[in-house]
Amino acid sequence: MPIEAYRHSTVSFPSRIIKTEEIPTLGVNREMAEPTNTRVYTKFSDLISKDRAERTKKEWKGDFISYLDLVKENPKIVKLAHRTIYDMLLEGGVKDINEDADPKTKRLFKDTNLKQYGFFAEEFFGMEDTVNKIVKYFHSAALKGEESRQVLYFLGPVGSGKSSLVEKIKRELENVTMYSLEGCPMHEEPMHLLPRHLRKEFEKLLGISIEGDLCPVCRYRLKEEFNNEYERFPVSTVNFSKRSRVGVASVPPVDPNNQDTSVLVGSEDISKLDKYSEGDPRVLELNGAFNVGNRGVVEFIEVFKNETEYLHAMITATQEKNVPAPGRHGMVYVDECIIAHSNEAEWQKFKADHTNEAILDRIVVVKVPYNLRLSEEVKIYQKIINASDFNAHIAPHTLELASMFAILSRLEPTAKCDLLTKLKLYNGEEVIEKGHTKRLSVEELKDDVKREGLFGISTRFISKALDNALSENIEGNCINPINVREAMIKMVKGSDWGDDSKKVLLEFLQDSLHKEYLTTLEKEITKAFVYSYRDQAEILFQNYLDHAEAYVNKTKVKDHNTKEDIQPDEGLLKSIEEQIAIIGSSADTFRQEVISYLWSATRRGNKLTYTSYEPLKEAIEKKLMSSVREISRIVTKARTRDSEQQDKYNDMVKNLLENGYCESCVDVVLKYAANNLWRD
Ligand SMILES: Nc1ncnc2c1ncn2[C@@H]1O[C@H](COP(=O)(O)OP(=O)(O)OP(=O)(O)O)[C@@H](O)[C@H]1O
Ligand SMILES: [Mg+2]
Repeated sequence: MPIEAYRHSTVSFPSRIIKTEEIPTLGVNREMAEPTNTRVYTKFSDLISKDRAERTKKEWKGDFISYLDLVKENPKIVKLAHRTIYDMLLEGGVKDINEDADPKTKRLFKDTNLKQYGFFAEEFFGMEDTVNKIVKYFHSAALKGEESRQVLYFLGPVGSGKSSLVEKIKRELENVTMYSLEGCPMHEEPMHLLPRHLRKEFEKLLGISIEGDLCPVCRYRLKEEFNNEYERFPVSTVNFSKRSRVGVASVPPVDPNNQDTSVLVGSEDISKLDKYSEGDPRVLELNGAFNVGNRGVVEFIEVFKNETEYLHAMITATQEKNVPAPGRHGMVYVDECIIAHSNEAEWQKFKADHTNEAILDRIVVVKVPYNLRLSEEVKIYQKIINASDFNAHIAPHTLELASMFAILSRLEPTAKCDLLTKLKLYNGEEVIEKGHTKRLSVEELKDDVKREGLFGISTRFISKALDNALSENIEGNCINPINVREAMIKMVKGSDWGDDSKKVLLEFLQDSLHKEYLTTLEKEITKAFVYSYRDQAEILFQNYLDHAEAYVNKTKVKDHNTKEDIQPDEGLLKSIEEQIAIIGSSADTFRQEVISYLWSATRRGNKLTYTSYEPLKEAIEKKLMSSVREISRIVTKARTRDSEQQDKYNDMVKNLLENGYCESCVDVVLKYAANNLWRD
């Protein structure tokens, strides 16, 4: 049966339109207003009248016969709920995930054909699998496959984004308009007016298919008010709206002692029962979730907290596309997408009961696990922070550190590598081990996992930790890796998780992440300390290349200054290689690898920089760090700095400030470095 819905921007109107009344614009009032503050007032009133004019333009009102003309012109306006949502999902654009992706993303997704959907891309991170499954469900359902008669069910741990996904769909639906029978409590599809015997012919004439029947209220009106002359029945546009309860409904778990179905299917208005006879549709209040959500979505929150009877009503609504009308009013046709969600414990409990098989068979399960990609986890907290009033300074690496903790807690251990390495591989990074890029693919790691992403620290825990860190440092108005880590340690210690879990989590915080952060911090301080760090790294890189190439090809190097041909300087090569433990005979192989890797990179047209080959980048950075051992003295020995050292110290602080630190956290991290990095 046909449903139509269209986006504001895509509709063209035929000539036979009955216009809505002209609404007086604010421009009229403006002439009457006092000229004080006229400019601001003009701006506001312009905004309002422009908006009103635009909205009025999109409104349409007419009788059913004019609606048929509209459909003739644009048959696509007749569509069912799943098609409406599917079209909306696609409107944000679709592209191959690898298209214009950064190298890390490319590395991770090179063998997949996942798509990136603009609809979700700006708000949901690291959810590619989930999002693709959701779109697949809507695609099949839009084509009226079996999915169109099944519940879409999101299963995932707390705070994994289930509610947010449904919210997004509901929110965006509010930008969609549909045509419906005027005054219908279920804003139903006007095509329901067509009598059965004419439908085939109209379907052919209009190139559409028609499904569904009039609701009892409209049926009554058609007979009493229009003498069954359905062509006169008024039709108008209506917007999906959560607040006005049009096409968007939400059902929280219902108190098991009071599983009154009126929440779902509406009720009879008892006060009217004296006035009208039994069976008179005028007593009907079709305001249950299934009525309200007609042509759009009905969300079931924490769905398995409801009694089974309730769930059966949900299944019947999707499967049969009918719900009972309250009292003796038969069945009411509904067309809607039912989206339910809950966490795993409830799902397992429900699944274990074999009497629930019939329900299980009518559910499409889409897992919504936690994100496991560091870069994306950081984006989640940036999004949450941007949406809040949080306006404190965030020191570099703060969100990374918090995100690393969250992800580590969500990973299953493996014999193939340590967890931090797993985290980096999942993030698309190249991990260097004994001078070589680790050859372990994400696919290999994923082969062994069972429940990864379905347990661990939630996004809410991290959000709270960020808030706690700030409330401990109100005067500094800054959160940094140090106070956030402390906040997380406190929260873990104070939690009621089991001792074993706490031990593992504290180990992450106090050991792996502590060390990892110190490594990062050391690099960061070195970068700030070494005058034009990048230039120096590039010079080292160029020198290494010149000499390694000559060494491999058994040729000589031209000295830049004297233009003399000289032997490759093995001392220089070794001093860099030993930074990543390449010594003895492995040096020859390493040099060959570097040269051939970089050769093929140039052939592909890539620009060579010191970061091009990950193992060499690491070696060069370490070399630079080791060459500035005096940092430690300058940072740690505040009292004994001479004036030259003090200048260097000040320059370093200045650089750190330019690189995103604030007056408060620059102090904190330098003290931390002094206490932890270079203690003698
Ligand atoms: N992968 C993600 N991308 C973007 N935001 C996310 C992601 N995962 C979680 N969030 C954010 O985390 C917060 C919590 O998510 P949400 O409330 O949707 O979780 P939920 O799965 O419904 O949890 P619960 O089971 O506790 O109801 C939201 O602000 C949400 O936007
Ligand atoms: Mg939720």
